[in-house]
Amino acid sequence: MKLSVIGCGYLGAVHAAAMASIGHEVVGIDVDPAKIEALAAGRSPIFEPGLPGLLLAGVESGRLRFSTDMADAAGATMHFVAVGTPQKAGSNAADLRYVDAAVTALLPHLSAGDVVVGKSTVPVGTAARLAELVAPTGAVLAWNPEFLREGFAVQDTIAPDRLVYGLPPAPEDAAVARAAFDEVYAQALSTGTPLVATGYSTAELVKVAANAFLATKISFINAMAEIAEVTDADVTELADAIGYDARIGRRFLNAGVGFGGGCLPKDIRAFTARAEELGRGESVAFLKEVDAINLRRRQRVIDLVVEELGGSAYQKRVAVLGLAFKPDSDDVRDSPALDVAVGLNGLGAVVLAFDPEAVPNARRLHPQLTFADSAEQAVTDADIVVVVTEWKAFRALDPSAVAELTAGKTIVDGRNCLDVDAWRGAGWRYIGLGRP
Ligand code: UDX
Repeated sequence: MKLSVIGCGYLGAVHAAAMASIGHEVVGIDVDPAKIEALAAGRSPIFEPGLPGLLLAGVESGRLRFSTDMADAAGATMHFVAVGTPQKAGSNAADLRYVDAAVTALLPHLSAGDVVVGKSTVPVGTAARLAELVAPTGAVLAWNPEFLREGFAVQDTIAPDRLVYGLPPAPEDAAVARAAFDEVYAQALSTGTPLVATGYSTAELVKVAANAFLATKISFINAMAEIAEVTDADVTELADAIGYDARIGRRFLNAGVGFGGGCLPKDIRAFTARAEELGRGESVAFLKEVDAINLRRRQRVIDLVVEELGGSAYQKRVAVLGLAFKPDSDDVRDSPALDVAVGLNGLGAVVLAFDPEAVPNARRLHPQLTFADSAEQAVTDADIVVVVTEWKAFRALDPSAVAELTAGKTIVDGRNCLDVDAWRGAGWRYIGLGRP
């Protein structure tokens, strides 16, 4: 099929490359010339495992092109809108200006029978509004939420857990959209990927509901960590024990410095704002608590470090290991790790931060921070070490070797990801979150 993908960020770039890899002819369009130039040369502007190979193969095959010109979308039968919906400045609501601009710019290039597919995460009601804009062109609008996780984006796109089709209300339009979806996703469907075909509102809500649930699960276990901290209980053992109950499940029960990234934090806030607009604010009022618990954990890590430094971080050397919001990503949007580094720096600590991939992005946002070129450099002469992103390389650090380099022998494990026995065995004072 001939496809266009409007917006080549985390979502769009991966979608474009993945669709080309399964045989479709794809043009990716973005307003950022630097991004398009990199992608057109087969270079990934983001750190995402598997993406560089896919991009290069797609570009070399001739099935994957990139452009800054929306006119290049003409001729495609499906147009995927994958632009960002960030949090509005000074509000909890989602900023829909990029979605609106993308759809409006696409309108002159649409033909009757085309399918415009929203993939961005939007407040419920957006699709119905956009469908009215699209209708005069004879194209139809459908919604197709995307559940990819950064770090696993390629595999999540090619082999998703499920597909959700948000189809238009008119049966003839729904049939057009459905046929297009079935064709574009034929490979995933042939392997038995579950499919939920529904209307616009449900499709929009599925995405925010899924993210709200995941955020709630993480904040639940972090709330238990807060209780564990005053009762000498161990939240990791508690998570194991409740996680054995298949109704609960162990995944997303890792207590630590909390969730961040471009999705969970802003999505729960936008959901709250939208529910309030709909007069149902109380239905999701608990998400404010989920957000508050989450933000408290960042402060908790900062407080622990200060406490361990004897009540003040001023002029103490702190090694911060991790800046990305999670491992295998260079993304520092709403990153707990970066917040911890910035917070400690603000207290007058001499922070030396390192992350295997996220330093350039962190530096752009916070040029006042000092960055190391390696974990070893970051920990050299440190009074205390803080791990805030659970990169494999940090989990694999040799406690004895690190002890040779540091001034102090205290490590705060903000992700409960280190081998406690190994660190304590090597003479370290190990402090986890929600653990004795
Ligand atoms: C999330 C959703 O998982 C994905 O389906 C959606 O499409 C986009 O948002 P992502 O933001 O890539 O994906 O990251 P995810 O793996 O969900 O992690 C989110 C945050 O939660 C990270 O900061 C992670 O460190 C944190 N987390 C996750 C925990 O603190 N504890 C856990 O047990 C799991």
